Amino acid sequence: MDISIQNDSTHSPIFLVGFMGSGKTHWGRQWAAVLHRKFIDVDELIETQEQLSVTEIFSSKGEAWFREKEALVLRSVIDKNDLLVSCGGGLPCFHDNMNFMNSTGTTIYLQASPRFLLHNILKEPQARPLLKNMNEAEMLFFIETKLNERNPCYKQATFILNAEDLTGDSIKIIPCTKDY
Ligand code: S3P
Repeated sequence: MDISIQNDSTHSPIFLVGFMGSGKTHWGRQWAAVLHRKFIDVDELIETQEQLSVTEIFSSKGEAWFREKEALVLRSVIDKNDLLVSCGGGLPCFHDNMNFMNSTGTTIYLQASPRFLLHNILKEPQARPLLKNMNEAEMLFFIETKLNERNPCYKQATFILNAEDLTGDSIKIIPCTKDY
């Protein structure tokens, strides 16, 4: 009998981390299908539980409340095997979440330049409460500043992939997916 299966990195969670607009949800969905894993988007799970959008949560309950909720939801999902979890852009940088994810699974940072991130964010700017009421130049400045601040945290990920160069098969180069 194999009792080590719970800690086998082939089955432990994969977490996608990175800035808004890096493609975590887009690629997460596709890669979960490729790997036969269940896909979880932490923001979507929070929105379902609260019956409010992330933007509404930020304005009605505030960012600190949202960060607590993220940490709770993150810890509540990882008791299942074969998950691929897409994390909100700020999640790794609050409540020791990066250490938690690194100790329970494999983290992958989708790294991208500020201009690439801005281009993607502009497709759906209203979904990003942190960028509310900013013009393009202000958004770019915010992204550059926040990315510099968050990079030391993101770079603690087990693997770093270039988000500007991803395909449906990019996930296969990550060692814990070798059996798929
Ligand atoms: C945030 C990113 C968002 C969402 C919230 C806060 C951030 O997720 O969690 O708006 O702090 O960077 P995405 O990275 O999926 O846009």
